[in-house]
Amino acid sequence: MQSPAPAPAAQQSDTTGMGPPNPDLSALPPRIRRELRASHVGETVAVALYDGVAGATSDPEVLRFAASHRRVERRHLRLFEAVLPPERRSALLAFWRWSGRVMGGLPAWLGPPYFYAVVAGVEAWVDGHYARQIDLARRLAPDPGLLTLLEACRLDERLHARDAARLDPAPPWTARALAGVAVFLSGVGVRVARWV
Ligand SMILES: [Fe+2]
Repeated sequence: MQSPAPAPAAQQSDTTGMGPPNPDLSALPPRIRRELRASHVGETVAVALYDGVAGATSDPEVLRFAASHRRVERRHLRLFEAVLPPERRSALLAFWRWSGRVMGGLPAWLGPPYFYAVVAGVEAWVDGHYARQIDLARRLAPDPGLLTLLEACRLDERLHARDAARLDPAPPWTARALAGVAVFLSGVGVRVARWV
């Protein structure tokens, strides 16, 4: 069941107007650099996920939701691109973009309950991913700008998960199962992106 549309996420974003941090990458522990590469991949996938919606559905609410959230994810990606020069990014970005388009396009094609369930599941997982990164950065590399970026992105992802869950609070089990697969693959993707 669909409830009234949420406020546009772009207006709620915690990264609006934020400038990129400028950490000394060579001074960061390798583990933190790997985490930054994984998050750059995650934001690349997020933009591609919402890109994948456009050709997969004509549902106006889904299209509006995707366009609004894409603006926020694009801002996240630009911030991580500013932190991480091309030579430190994943070598598999073309694959990550393709996988993101599938992750958005397939559920959008199946229908709004599938799309919102996948977004709610994946964004909630990303919330936890950023929480673990924030904890790690506080312990290993407490750069204030980096922590601010991670915390702001985390808040945005929480808002996205909430928006999606509100639009379809009781998805069918098939949609929940698809979301579970997407969450599992997100975990696998992050593990790979830390290294490649
Ligand atoms: Fe994001």
